[in-house]
Amino acid sequence: MSQRHFIHFSELALSRKVLFTGALCTLGFGYLFAMAMVWISHAGRDGSEMLSVKDVVIAYAGSDSGTRLEGALKGPMSKMLPANENLQVVEWVLKGTNKEQFDSKIGAIFEKRCVVCHNDRNPHLPSLESYEKVLKVAEKDTGANYHTLIRVSHIHLFGLTFIFFIVTFIFSHAYFRREWLKSVIIIIPFISICADIVAWFLTKVNHDFALMVIGAGAGMGSCFGIMFVVSMWQMWISRKLPEHIGKGDEVIDEDVVESGR
Ligand code: HEC
Repeated sequence: MSQRHFIHFSELALSRKVLFTGALCTLGFGYLFAMAMVWISHAGRDGSEMLSVKDVVIAYAGSDSGTRLEGALKGPMSKMLPANENLQVVEWVLKGTNKEQFDSKIGAIFEKRCVVCHNDRNPHLPSLESYEKVLKVAEKDTGANYHTLIRVSHIHLFGLTFIFFIVTFIFSHAYFRREWLKSVIIIIPFISICADIVAWFLTKVNHDFALMVIGAGAGMGSCFGIMFVVSMWQMWISRKLPEHIGKGDEVIDEDVVESGR
């Protein structure tokens, strides 16, 4: 008869199972909102509605397809000024938004063609009334900046560790035929949390690491799913341990041994 080193769900008091169930359900609910948040903040950045690798690249590393100003001048705003002026503005952006050129020539074009609508009094449109304001739409999109990434990193590391500690702790009461497999399922989320964060920074350097961001998210999500289902299943549906695993009083557990049971 094999010895067991964990306490199975079936040996827990009802109140403890209710506690675990409450925690799992609220965390699962939270996980759904987290997924929705990822969708809202990432999907569609590349122009198509679905969430894609490119969306992740744009979120962390920025877009190569030019600035908002260029996009507008090629698209919806192209009719607002004659073609030669349009070209001048685009060239000015591509050459690095020089301040002297703005003062001598380009500023007048904005003044004449754009400021009727794009002024400080209209809060719905980007103002183009000064050099500094024009720069805001002429900046290259470089994705999330390091400041933001560092802030979100520490929140993620602490927050997700709490969440996964709770879920894996509950799951550690489950019976798994292979103890090593159970351990793998427990460790993957923690590795994924770290891999995810490292991958955000690496994506800025090399776009291929967007795949690592997605892989880490998938690893976390699938382990969460497995732990949720197995724990709930063994708590409430299939509540018996297989015969050969032994009864509760054969559990080898330090707490139990110390308390003299
Ligand atoms: C008649 C009013 C009007 C004029 C004149 C006008 N715009 Fe716009 N502009 C808009 C409106 C409305 C939007 C928002 C809707 C849209 O994007 O089509 C907009 C959006 C923009 C955007 C933002 C696009 C984004 O990324 O959200 C930029 C940049 C822009 N315009 C630049 C210009 C420039 C440069 C000129 C002058 C050459 C100009 N606009 C002239 C009305 C105007």
